[in-house]
Amino acid sequence: MNILDAEFVKGFIRMANDGWLLGFHERNGGNLTYRIKDSEVDEIKDNFKPGQWQEIGTEVKDLAGEFFMVTGSGRFFRNADIRPEETTGIIEVSEDGTKYRIVWGLINGGRPTSELPSHLMNHEVKKKLTNGKYRVIYHGHPANVIALTFVLPLEAEVFTRELWEMATECPVVFPDGIGVVPWMVPGGREIAVETSKLMELYDVVIWAHHGLFAAGEDFDLTFGLFHTVEKAAEILVKTLSMTSAKRQTIMPDDFRRLAKDFNVELPERFLYDK
Ligand code: 13P
Ligand code: ZN
Repeated sequence: MNILDAEFVKGFIRMANDGWLLGFHERNGGNLTYRIKDSEVDEIKDNFKPGQWQEIGTEVKDLAGEFFMVTGSGRFFRNADIRPEETTGIIEVSEDGTKYRIVWGLINGGRPTSELPSHLMNHEVKKKLTNGKYRVIYHGHPANVIALTFVLPLEAEVFTRELWEMATECPVVFPDGIGVVPWMVPGGREIAVETSKLMELYDVVIWAHHGLFAAGEDFDLTFGLFHTVEKAAEILVKTLSMTSAKRQTIMPDDFRRLAKDFNVELPERFLYDK
């Protein structure tokens, strides 16, 4: 099968384009990776032309031999749709989990996103915790989430609670809450280690003054999660722009009732008295 005809490739490109259209990816901002199913690899592997093994910059033993579709470093999401072979690619992880090689795409001297260590370490955590169900890791630069990292304390409890209050569906969409990584230099192992630690607890992690990471089962759920968090952040920015004191809001007991009816568990540490 032609790689561009594979359903997962179409889904990947559509998600990249949706993110561009919603403003999450100025210039080369953001990156997306998908852990490809064995059956999907089988359908397209005749097209693979393996390149040289390169260092990942970290170790992901539990991803040995896995294939990932990735966005390219310095490549623009707005081009994913029109130049997929240049903007995206497929990589294979080596048997010792320390190297990757490009097997398709990223033409004209491309390489995987500079956030590959974060993506792969997050994949490794999620693969283990979800029995292989989660396959997508998504990073973007949503303006409202980033704006809030200049104003709110950089604490999971505060971000979770403030965003939950902004839309009734929020606690249902991200019941485990949101993690926060303080400002760090991006693109390396250190920030990858911090992010993947938080991915053990959360599906969404904020990078202060930088952006957002989301993890999920498929493109719809991961994009929907990212979009929901940014929408809640937008409502909070609008609210804070009008007043610093809300006249009314969703209260802790309201969340407890919601949790019952929607059959979700909302950790009490987010339902503190203000
Ligand atoms: P890449 O172009 O290397 O993917 O980097 C973009 C980015 O958002 C870094 O955090
Ligand atoms: Zn970024």
